[in-house]
Amino acid sequence: MENEFERIKRLPPYVFSEVNSLKAKLRSAGKDIIDFGMGNPDMPTPEHIRRKLQETVDKPGTGRYSSSKGIPGLRKAQAKYYKRRFNVSLDPETEVIVTLGSKEGLANLAQAITSPGDIILTPNPSYPIHPYGFIIAGASLRHLTAMDEGIFNQELFLEKLDRSIRHSVPSPKAIIVSFPSNPTAQIVDLGFYEEVVKIGIKYNTYILSDLAYAEIYYDNNPPPSILQVKNAKKIAVEFTSLSKTYSMAGWRIGFAVGNKSLISALTRIKSYLDYGAFTPIQVAAAAALNGPQDCVSEIRNTYKKRRDVLISSMSRSGWIIPEPKASMFAWAPIPKLFQKKGSLGFAKDLMLKASVAVAPGLAFGEYGEGYVRIGLVENEHRIRQAAKNVKKLLG
Ligand SMILES: Cc1ncc(COP(=O)(O)O)c(C=O)c1O
Repeated sequence: MENEFERIKRLPPYVFSEVNSLKAKLRSAGKDIIDFGMGNPDMPTPEHIRRKLQETVDKPGTGRYSSSKGIPGLRKAQAKYYKRRFNVSLDPETEVIVTLGSKEGLANLAQAITSPGDIILTPNPSYPIHPYGFIIAGASLRHLTAMDEGIFNQELFLEKLDRSIRHSVPSPKAIIVSFPSNPTAQIVDLGFYEEVVKIGIKYNTYILSDLAYAEIYYDNNPPPSILQVKNAKKIAVEFTSLSKTYSMAGWRIGFAVGNKSLISALTRIKSYLDYGAFTPIQVAAAAALNGPQDCVSEIRNTYKKRRDVLISSMSRSGWIIPEPKASMFAWAPIPKLFQKKGSLGFAKDLMLKASVAVAPGLAFGEYGEGYVRIGLVENEHRIRQAAKNVKKLLG
């Protein structure tokens, strides 16, 4: 019966599900699996944000339907964040929308703007909703890879992007960019966005930027926003999220900001689909953005310490992993001994023989093969333990 629906047929079995079911099986047999598999933050949401939620829940009327585009106070808080962090001015009425996590926003924007036969350019490897949001919406995808020995190469990407657009008939409807990248952790500079915006304007192609890891960076090098580029608002929207910045993944609050036609299309489609997040969650989200930001530095520092422990302890175990400059992931080449097994085979071996779960690179697209993604979602002690287990495996 599963194969009777055309749209479902276009969704391949989630590669994660194979790894996840093995993990569940081992856990139910009593195995302690050190789980770096999902980008699911383990740190608690900061206390003042939780308190704000609790206070607001007790106020009258908060159980009513909320506003599908987000309460004004939260949209204003997001506009203020863009002003202080990127010096980008946004009109909270027409250039900001609250989404039920950025994933929902990306998927519904794809529904809102896609016509049958539209071409979308997406990087590969990438976070699955980038291609699949558009596949579900009925678009045709062109994958852009610019990996050079597993490392993202900005110049190569721009060259390929320009070439792909020139040879696409009709011109692509949209390009997706997402840096710091999940899964590769690669970052870009403002010069990269300047070129992407130039190309987008030249070919009348929208740009969707996903900046989920805006605040998860190391080495004092905050990732830029595409909206810092002059004229970017003519063609670009950007998605951000509270999931990682404030460890609020389960709260489901994200944003899209920028180009008015895209924000208006997303607002329109969402007005048919949802009533917005629970109001107290939105009030607490505004408190997160407007309140003290030292909690963000603490979260960032915790990821940084874990990154340092991961890179150094794995290297002592014989697994050399490049140091990520941002995001909550390390993108690790499969050790020589296991290369023939591919990323799925290696991920299974790691789980079965070292009790360590990672995400196989193949889950993020064919050009992710040869790598696994390690999420910094276990504490330092467990990272060290994982490295000991890996040492035995690599023997
Ligand atoms: C690049 C990227 N975009 C979006 C998301 C989803 O974020 P949200 O929780 O806001 O839906 C993730 C989550 O891992 C991500 O890595």
